[in-house]
Amino acid sequence: MHPPIPLSRPDITQREIDAVVDVLHTDTLSIGPKAIEFERLCASVAERRHGIAVSSGTTALHCAMVAAGIDAGDEVITTPFSFVASANAALFVGARPVFVDIDSVTLNIDLDKVAAAITPKTRAIVGVEVFGHPGGMPELEQLCRRHDLTLIEDSCEGFGGHAGKRAIGSFGQTSVFAFYPNKQITTGEGGMILTDDDAVAATCRSLRNQGRDGMAWLAHQRLGYNYRLSEINAAIGVAQMQRLEEILDARRRVAHQYMDRLMTSRFVTLPTLTSDDVMSWFVFVVRLNDLFEVGDRDALMAMLREQGIGCNNYFPPIHLQPYMVEQLGHKAGDFPVCEYVANRTLALPFFSKMTPKQVETVCTTLEKTLEKMLIARKGRF
Ligand SMILES: Cc1ncc(COP(=O)(O)O)c(C=O)c1O
Repeated sequence: MHPPIPLSRPDITQREIDAVVDVLHTDTLSIGPKAIEFERLCASVAERRHGIAVSSGTTALHCAMVAAGIDAGDEVITTPFSFVASANAALFVGARPVFVDIDSVTLNIDLDKVAAAITPKTRAIVGVEVFGHPGGMPELEQLCRRHDLTLIEDSCEGFGGHAGKRAIGSFGQTSVFAFYPNKQITTGEGGMILTDDDAVAATCRSLRNQGRDGMAWLAHQRLGYNYRLSEINAAIGVAQMQRLEEILDARRRVAHQYMDRLMTSRFVTLPTLTSDDVMSWFVFVVRLNDLFEVGDRDALMAMLREQGIGCNNYFPPIHLQPYMVEQLGHKAGDFPVCEYVANRTLALPFFSKMTPKQVETVCTTLEKTLEKMLIARKGRF
């Protein structure tokens, strides 16, 4: 059998290793020049005035919520089909996440259904480019302007993508990136808040640094957190940014190989883009076609893993996570498009250094396994 193919793998070279070692030879392991350089490089990707480096995408979202003044009793509209942190951010500040079902093509929030979810309590929308698909963010920005709502762009999965001419990360009062090891670029752990608003930037800088407003170490102006990004992590980020085009190109190459290979498959539906948009390839997710039933995706994952192919069910519906059910009272059937998609989607191995041979192995194993599942089903009837 072929060696196991992981779901993801960070793209780390000698450049990142040297950058870390260089920092370790200095006396500045936190609050220093590497974080500032990383902030500048990330802000420039989306042509934003400010970048504020933080410890994760989740802490970036928390700061964005506080800086937007979202509070207990407020409502925040978001998608049920994302990583949980998109919705958790509302809960962190005592607000209620209000879910709106998704569009079956972009897999982002359904623009036709958002307006109906706005109430007098709605203060913000957290828009997400799920799997790096930019669809709908310009429209969400317009909608927020019309209804005087704050847009927070959860661009954690969209680094380097574009909605038309606009970079992912350039929308809304704030946008946030995440740098966990499966992301387009990584810092080990890390996140970034981008904004054009000077006051919001100042608040976020203070929030991440224990509520300090200036350099006085023991003067705290507000309730703050330790959400700082260390210089060690920031140095990895700077080195990754120096290789950004190389990394994004490599991911595009792998994605295109998957697309070409699976385009004619009768088993799966592939990501769909409008011609003006540039997908940021965070993961490669396929959806099982209607030939398959609920439950088949999980059986498929078990069989793929047995054959050394990493995979995962990106994403289970957020509204059906146990604590969301408990707090918000949701039940199966509340967001049918999300639930239908979530039962059928599957992330396949995807990373920049994936070889053409590995992609071919994944596709052949996927198709053969699905074929076998259909044959076995016929045998049962
Ligand atoms: C859409 C989205 N939002 C937020 C996050 C949270 O980022 P982190 O894991 O860095 O806290 C992620 C990370 O997976 C994400 O995909």
